[in-house]
Amino acid sequence: MSSKKPLPLINSQDSEQISPEKGDVNFLDQTLRPTSWNDYIGQKNIKDNLHILLTAAAERKHPPEHLLFYGPPGLGKTTLAHLIAHETRAQLKATSGPAIEKVGDLASILTNLSPGDILFIDEIHRLNKAIEEVLYPAMESGSLDIIIGKGPSARTIQLDLPQFTLIAATTRIALLSAPLRSRFSGGVFKLEFYTNEEIEKIIERSAKILGVKIDDSAKAEIAKRSRFTPRTANYLLKRSRDLAQVRKSALTKETVMEALNMLGIDEVGLNATDRALLTVIEEKFNGGPVGLNTLAAALSEEQATIEDVYEPYLLQLGFIERTSRGRVITDRAKMHLGLKSKNKLI
Ligand code: ADE
Repeated sequence: MSSKKPLPLINSQDSEQISPEKGDVNFLDQTLRPTSWNDYIGQKNIKDNLHILLTAAAERKHPPEHLLFYGPPGLGKTTLAHLIAHETRAQLKATSGPAIEKVGDLASILTNLSPGDILFIDEIHRLNKAIEEVLYPAMESGSLDIIIGKGPSARTIQLDLPQFTLIAATTRIALLSAPLRSRFSGGVFKLEFYTNEEIEKIIERSAKILGVKIDDSAKAEIAKRSRFTPRTANYLLKRSRDLAQVRKSALTKETVMEALNMLGIDEVGLNATDRALLTVIEEKFNGGPVGLNTLAAALSEEQATIEDVYEPYLLQLGFIERTSRGRVITDRAKMHLGLKSKNKLI
């Protein structure tokens, strides 16, 4: 008796899981995720390129070529995949690198696609090598080559797949092999951190959707602490709204400051782990350089979490530097943490 295993696909409505650093993402996905290009603020260069690519593909009556989006978490990679599916009226099937455990998992996903479908693979850097190799011919020539059996009697069978578009996302472009990267013939796009003005627009739009009134100074305060990241901005907006609701007060700058201070988020958006990371470099390792593995052990964090979640923003702020010998804290960070006086000349 064999019960058929479901495909490792994620319902496209909740293709991201709740985790502390991502915040209450499910709710965000369904309610705050932009559903039109007009609502998708920022990333102008990517939007312009996608517009040309999608228009040209539509004129040729051909599915768009495979696309790869990379950049820190929360910048809208998944949202882009949903918008592309919406614009091309394609069905989006979402999965992730870690969900595809075996070659057979990928084979069943690919053979269950319909012509014109978009297959979205999040965290593609976590796909294992053997599975990656099955993906190459599927992406290049729409064929699935699988080996049946072992040893001298092993043989390869080749199946034709329906035409599909692979959209992949990763926070770690450096972990992708060159052969995989080169197969994204539609393009490889880097999502940038948002500007303060863009984050303010996102907060304004989200507040409208959530039905909360927010004044300009409250909006500016949330934006300042949002790590230039829409997901964080929406998370902080919701937590501030909670406090305003419980206090039966308006969503003012004071409410925002109180809500975010309670969450341990400081005036430039650093949380307790960011501060611990900086303090450990300064106090335990004399300001650095300190290797990533040593730093991760000292903080009891995964190296990947440090690289994916904490470092991009600290680098963006100029609070740490990456050198060949490890991570170094900057004077700017020391000043922010009060580890160095503004007038001290050293
Ligand atoms: N949520 C995630 N990314 C967004 C964007 N670029 N604009 C508006 N809301 C977003």
